[in-house]
Amino acid sequence: MDEKECSSLINKLYHSGIARPAIEREVANTFPMHCFDNWRPFSIDDYNRALSQVSMKKSRLYFHTPFCESRCRFCIYDVTVRANIKTQEDYIKSVKNQFNHSQNNIQSINSIYFGGGTPSYLEDNLFEEYLSLPLSIPREEGYSFNVEAKPGTLTDSKIEIMKRLGVNRISLGIQTLDDKLLKKLNRGHNSKDSIETINRILQDDLYFNTDLIYGFPNQSVEDSLKDLRKLIDFGVPEFTLYYLRINLKTGLRHFNIHVGNQIFCFSQLKKILVNSGYVQTRPIHFVKKDFVENSNRYGSAPTSDQGQYSQEKEKNILGGRVFAFGAPGAVSHIRDYLWESTPVKEYKNLVNLKKVPGYRQYKISEDDKDTRFFIDFIQSMKSQNIEKTYRSKRGRNLPEKFKRKINRLLDLSLFKKRDEEISLTEKGFLVHDMIERFFL
Ligand SMILES: C[S@@+](CC[C@H](N)C(=O)[O-])C[C@H]1O[C@@H](n2cnc3c(N)ncnc32)[C@H](O)[C@@H]1O
Ligand code: SF4
Repeated sequence: MDEKECSSLINKLYHSGIARPAIEREVANTFPMHCFDNWRPFSIDDYNRALSQVSMKKSRLYFHTPFCESRCRFCIYDVTVRANIKTQEDYIKSVKNQFNHSQNNIQSINSIYFGGGTPSYLEDNLFEEYLSLPLSIPREEGYSFNVEAKPGTLTDSKIEIMKRLGVNRISLGIQTLDDKLLKKLNRGHNSKDSIETINRILQDDLYFNTDLIYGFPNQSVEDSLKDLRKLIDFGVPEFTLYYLRINLKTGLRHFNIHVGNQIFCFSQLKKILVNSGYVQTRPIHFVKKDFVENSNRYGSAPTSDQGQYSQEKEKNILGGRVFAFGAPGAVSHIRDYLWESTPVKEYKNLVNLKKVPGYRQYKISEDDKDTRFFIDFIQSMKSQNIEKTYRSKRGRNLPEKFKRKINRLLDLSLFKKRDEEISLTEKGFLVHDMIERFFL
């Protein structure tokens, strides 16, 4: 599809209620984490009950790091800029306390994810102390250990620390290699920093992913393709391609997104990746063929993947065991609840008093699980007999309202059907986030 066809597709979908809003409140695939309307104040009784009902094996741990060296103009997260050493030390001490209070609850670990913000912003000794925290708990065979990092903060010594501690995936925020744009975005690093960091990680034989964003103001499709070609030539093993999202927190909130243009750009980026031997393992993830098996176990940040409970193929799909540490807004998923942590100031006080730093909670409903079922189907990239899978996972027949939605997507050629199996079409994958929204 060319750019014009992409724009007319978007117009057509818009009239069917399938759309990407100009200003986003939430990202569909993190559902229901970002549906804050129905969150309730934190209840310690509910929390303790949930904790007592869940298996403590194969837990997934998330450590939130709210610090960054600069505030990027596009960023949708709540971060503290240029925190000094004392602030960093105080924060790590609190996380350590929170972790020590709850570590008896965790028997073994399936995955560890240090996200942010920018964990690599921390001073070396704190970085090492912080990353070592979960290593006191037994880990399952093939466990994943991810750390988010940003060029300019990821020094040789930090790479050495990660290697020594067994980090097996770095998620590197490149975004773009265009120096003028990087400056306008207030990224605090340039393309030379990015390339040096990539070369250094490659030299050390550490596995890594790079995040790219496309659709920035004044960034042409050709600009994005140029960045991607360069990074492929450097030998980047995995890419995550984000379209520029706008919400009310971002410095770019007045920028008018052109969705048709974003869709066209994504189709061109995908073409290059597929032609260069990358496999689309999830709608926005592309992995070099040789690394696909290896990358399957890494998944995404547990906080942005609340679908974990339905992936476990358990009849009872209430068993979330994501433990999040830190603040603000770190979200645990225990049993059938999501639990969000308090703002940083309260967090420190509560943790010092040995209290759970809970701010609000969300009970996952049966409707939420239905929505999650469809998001997981879209993210899985696989074809499925939806009626059959729904029956086996949800224990009842597929409701009529979903049959109607599926038929609408078939009519629009976003879904296709073969021998009762349904999958997304090429066109469907280009607008997969809008299809996810259609099931919200
Ligand atoms: C929590 S950030 C961590 C990475 C690190 N702090 C950095 O910026 O390099 C994770 C990723 O979210 C993505 N992101 C942040 N704001 C975004 C936006 N407005 N639209 C799309 N992606 C965004 C970026 O690609 C970023 O690398
Ligand atoms: S994009 Fe990354 S580095 Fe920039 S402000 Fe957001 S979290 Fe920090």
